[in-house]
This record gives sequence, structure tokens and C-alpha cells, in this order.
Amino acid sequence: MAKMEDIVSLCKRRGFIWQGSDVYGGMAGTWDFGPLGVALKRRIMNTWWNYWVEGRDDIYGVDAAIIMNPKTWEASGHTATFADPLVECNECHGRFRADKLVEGANESISTEEFKAQNAKCPTCGKVNWSDIRKFNMMFQTHVGPVDDDSSIAYLRPETAQGIFTNYKNVVDTIYPDLPFGLAQQGKAFRNEISPRDFILRDRECEQMEIEYFVNPADWKESFDALHDAYHKFLTEEMGLDADLIHDFEVAPEDRAHYSKHTIDIMFDYPNGQEELMGLAYRTDFDLMNIQKASNKSMEYIPKGGGERFVPHVIEPSIGVERLLLAILSCAYKEEEKDGKKRTILALPEHLAPYRFCVSPLLKNKPDLVAKAREVYDLLRKKYGNVTWDDSGNIGKRYLKQDEIGTPKCVVVDFDTLEDDTVTIRDRDTTEQVRVKIAEL
Ligand code: GAP
Repeated sequence: MAKMEDIVSLCKRRGFIWQGSDVYGGMAGTWDFGPLGVALKRRIMNTWWNYWVEGRDDIYGVDAAIIMNPKTWEASGHTATFADPLVECNECHGRFRADKLVEGANESISTEEFKAQNAKCPTCGKVNWSDIRKFNMMFQTHVGPVDDDSSIAYLRPETAQGIFTNYKNVVDTIYPDLPFGLAQQGKAFRNEISPRDFILRDRECEQMEIEYFVNPADWKESFDALHDAYHKFLTEEMGLDADLIHDFEVAPEDRAHYSKHTIDIMFDYPNGQEELMGLAYRTDFDLMNIQKASNKSMEYIPKGGGERFVPHVIEPSIGVERLLLAILSCAYKEEEKDGKKRTILALPEHLAPYRFCVSPLLKNKPDLVAKAREVYDLLRKKYGNVTWDDSGNIGKRYLKQDEIGTPKCVVVDFDTLEDDTVTIRDRDTTEQVRVKIAEL
């Protein structure tokens, strides 16, 4: 398995991911995606959207505002309970998440349990801690020109609430058959106490969430179906190695406040096993809270007749950054053959930032360059994500394209001018075949 530092170094060197606000010394917990990183990220998000929304007839998309009426977070329980256990070192005043300093601990760790472990401060090495206090992770802002308590609002900590608050709009307008899902992709913000492990735990991340509304009698059937479908999606569409994915049933005392049954899908990242995504049975917790707080009915009227009811919800939720890091961990490989080393990003072809790289064998031969440009334009028209490379020698170009994950390099040489064939070189096997341009 790849080492985290190798992945971070490749991401930085090749323009995938940089620390946010790098030029000013960085901003902890934020990341900027460069040309290759954003291409990969968009392909992941587009593949997700095509698979879950466009590829099914029971899931519809929404795109809600990031700043929502603060009543949203009262009703959802986030104002009261979206908090992590914070401890402060009384010596150096470093602040940390208590549960991350004690092996096997979870968010509900008490001051007594924490102190009994004698954990050392990761910064100064001393053992002199404050009591644990709950630290709410929502970022506050003010909306409008008045800067007082009446204008407080929050950057959403999950995209889910933008779905729940639109459930009624969707039922009143398109009235889908139950069960149906609503899907959303978008930014979520959490003032994490200890952002860490590259893009794994960020203060600003991108979520892809589905709220799947069901008849309460059928929740388990839908839960299991979504669970199976997600495993299929992660391995077949995202190229994750099935051996690195593990289901973990979350114990009742560790579940989020809204959940009655949760499976965390864990992934063996280079720095250890972490949550990749969650699948939660949220019951009618959210719709009931919205019904109460808004005084509007969230009941669904069954189309074939029968009693109206408030649907229950199954929620598969995944973060784009965590998925992207899992994909990079599986794709990163180093190889040595005949004394020559190369790094390969063996990304699935449909996720690679560039599908093809087109080159003239030599860049100082105008007729080769002109022919290669023709091939480049042809492939770009057909596939879009095609890159041009005429730097250095052909061997160096191959090494660079292997490292950024381009599955095929197309080379135009002197034979091309005679017979309209090109060489296609494969990233994973390094094999080369000769193909007619018309057959590309
Ligand atoms: N709506 C449910 C919800 O937000 P969550 O377990 O807090 O549940 C869901 O988050 C997913 O979002 C996680 O499994 C993870 O993939 C991603 N995620 C959450 N917090 C994150 C963070 N600080 N940085 C990166 N990804 C995060």
C-alpha cells in the first residue's frame, strides 16, 4: 500500500492538491485543487451523479443554499449537539479532540475516562489537562448589515438538511412514488478541532448525500439494498479494492443523535483505518422535527390509498475528499523494471484527469507536429479530456503521464505520415500497439 507522504508529494508536485491559501502560509483544514485534482474530483462527482441520480428512476437531485435559516439547525439538533469533546493542555495551551488522544475512545468520552488514560500532550509531551468541554463545530456568520444575535447564521455542517427542508417542495411539485430519494452534492463546513491526515479531516469538505424516503415498515429492505448498491459503486465505479473496505456496525451509544441503526463503511487508508462513509437509518427524526418547527405537514399520501404517514429515511453519506483519497491510495503504485523506476497512478479510465496524451515523436519536425495536432483535435472533440505533451523526450513524457494517471499515450511518428497509423502506449502494461487513426 502507498505511503501517505508519497501521495501528498505527488499531489503537490503534479498539481492535484495544495494546502489552502498556500501563498500566505496556509490555512489548516482547507485544501485547494489544482488542474489535475479538480479534473479528478469532478469526474468522481459526475460519476456519482450519473450513477445515483441519472442512472435510476427513484432518486432526484436538489441543490440547496449553503446558508440556511438558523431554525434549520435548531430543529435538526445541530445547535445543541453537533459538538466534539475538546481538551486543552494546561502547559502549552494546545487544544485537541479528547477522543483522538486515547485509543479506542469515542466522542462521548468523559473527563474522568480521559484523565485516567494519562495521555501525553502531542505538542509538549506533558500530562496536565483541562476538563473536557463540548465544542460546537458549526461556523457562525452574520447575514445582512446588522452584526448582532438576530443576524447569526451558520455555514451548513451537512448537506442533508438542504434535502430535508425541500422534501415537501418535491412532494408538492413532482409527487414521486414512495420509496424515493433526493440527492445533493455540495460544500459542508465543520470547525474541526484537529484537522488531519491530508484531506481526510477538513474544515471545508464536499459531501454527496442521499436521503431515501421510505414507508417505515420497509426501512430494512431499503437499507440493505442501498448498502449493497454502495459496495458495488465503490468497487466497480470508483475502483476501490474490496479487501480494503470494511463494514462497521456502530454501537447505539456511539451513533449520531438522529440514527437508530448505522453502518460506517471503513477504508484502510495509508495512515490506518478510517470512516469513508456512513449509512444511517435516520427514522422520521428530521421530518418530524421540521413538521413541529414549521407547523407544516410532512405527511405523504400513498397513491394507492391508505393512511397518510411521515416517511422514514435511509441516508448514505460520503465525503468527496475521503473518496478521492481512497481512490488515490488504491491507484498509487511504484514499479521497478530493468533497473528503471516509475510511479503509476492506475486510476480507472473514466476517472483519470486525462484519458489520452497526444505527442509528436519530435517537436522540431513541423509535419509531425501538424499531424499530431490533427490527432489531438480529433480526440479532444470525441473525449474532451485529452492533453498535449511535446516536452523532453518520449520516455520522460511517458513517465510523467504514468504519474498523473493518463491511461493511453498516443504518439505520432514518421510512419504516421505514410500510413495514418499511430502508436498507443498503455500506462499499466507499457505495451505499445499500432492503430489506424480512424480506429482511435
Ligand atoms: N448527513 C450525515 C453526515 O454528515 P457524517 O458522518 O458527519 O454524517 C458523512 O459525515 C461523511 O462526510 C463522512 O463519512 C465523511 O466521508 C464526510 N466527512 C464528514 N466530516 C468530514 C471532514 N471534516 N472532512 C472530510 N470529510 C468529512
